[in-house]
Amino acid sequence: MASKAILPFFSFTIFLLLLPLLFHSVLAHSKDGKPSPFEYLQHLQGCHKGEHVKDLHKLKKYLHNYGYLSNYDNSKTHANDDDFDEFLESAIKTYQLNYHLKPTGTLDAKTVSKMMSPRCSVADIINGTTGMVSGKKRQGSKSVHRVSHYAFFPQEPKWPASKFDLTYAFLPGTRVDAIGPVGRAFQAWAANTHFRFTWIGDYVNSDIKISFESGDHGDGDPFDGTQLAHAFAPTDGRFHYDASWNWSVNVTAGSYHLETIALHEIGHLLGLHHSSVEGSIMYPSFKPGESKGLHADDVQGIKALYNF
Ligand SMILES: *[C@@H]1O[C@H](CO)[C@@H](O)[C@H](O)[C@H]1NC(C)=O
Ligand SMILES: *[C@@H]1O[C@H](CO)[C@@H](O)[C@H](O)[C@H]1NC(C)=O
Ligand SMILES: *[C@@H]1O[C@H](CO)[C@@H](O)[C@H](O)[C@H]1NC(C)=O
Ligand SMILES: [Zn+2]
Ligand SMILES: [Zn+2]
Repeated sequence: MASKAILPFFSFTIFLLLLPLLFHSVLAHSKDGKPSPFEYLQHLQGCHKGEHVKDLHKLKKYLHNYGYLSNYDNSKTHANDDDFDEFLESAIKTYQLNYHLKPTGTLDAKTVSKMMSPRCSVADIINGTTGMVSGKKRQGSKSVHRVSHYAFFPQEPKWPASKFDLTYAFLPGTRVDAIGPVGRAFQAWAANTHFRFTWIGDYVNSDIKISFESGDHGDGDPFDGTQLAHAFAPTDGRFHYDASWNWSVNVTAGSYHLETIALHEIGHLLGLHHSSVEGSIMYPSFKPGESKGLHADDVQGIKALYNF
């Protein structure tokens, strides 16, 4: 008798105990039920050197992904632990400088908010070369004054002078509504360069190959849910959108603009790296519903790379 009365009471107590867990898991998931890949960043807001906080290793992975923790030798234990050490502080400062944030070295609200913006998955720093604030060399100045502008990939890969007539093709089966926006993006670059771009049906033999991919798609740069697209430096020619986002032909709230992202990725295909000029198309992060065109910084960059 007694056990029968206790059982409902017991279940209710367990329910009460589980309630916060349940609530937390609802909060940590977006509307479509998928876990938010940025959730950990919000919990890390405010942390600084000397602290040991759960999930800091995810922040290290994020920064490492974009080239900010290249000093970490993966064999050292610190790369995968939750210790906020001086390497992490220094990496955050570099990130903040690249994005024109105050270089505090702590994970302040503005830094978290910038990191939560979906972005291009091409690293900001490749082999220790940061495109984003390395304007000093190009300006021919020895001063510490930072000039932010366009950048090139290390070793400045580009298409040979004879190869200005480039063909592009979509992976067979690609959503047809991408053809118009991608074509307009190529025309915008053509209008500002010596390049000509021709859409062909022959995917295998085209110079530029466009497709929608998701997750790990075999090119060594899996999409992790925080990235919109990527493209490879000359003369590779591969340009991948992450199929898991809502993409739109026209500017639409809550969706990403196919043409805007194509302008950015074509910049990579032609040899531009990321720029810290926020208005430029080569700035790495994007907001939903945002549309951008080519900026003077982008046009100056491509002119400088190809000397015209
Ligand atoms: C980075 O440097 C390594 C070793 O010097 C080299 O093999 C690799 O191709 C470089 N990567 C890029 C993207 O320049
Ligand atoms: C795409 O849009 C739908 C409907 O507007 C929305 O429910 C869903 O969360 C969006 N998905 C992504 C990945 O943004
Ligand atoms: C985009 O806008 C244009 C011009 O307003 C319109 O003709 C077209 O149907 C729209 N496309 C989509 C997919 O909504
Ligand atoms: Zn990019
Ligand atoms: Zn890819």
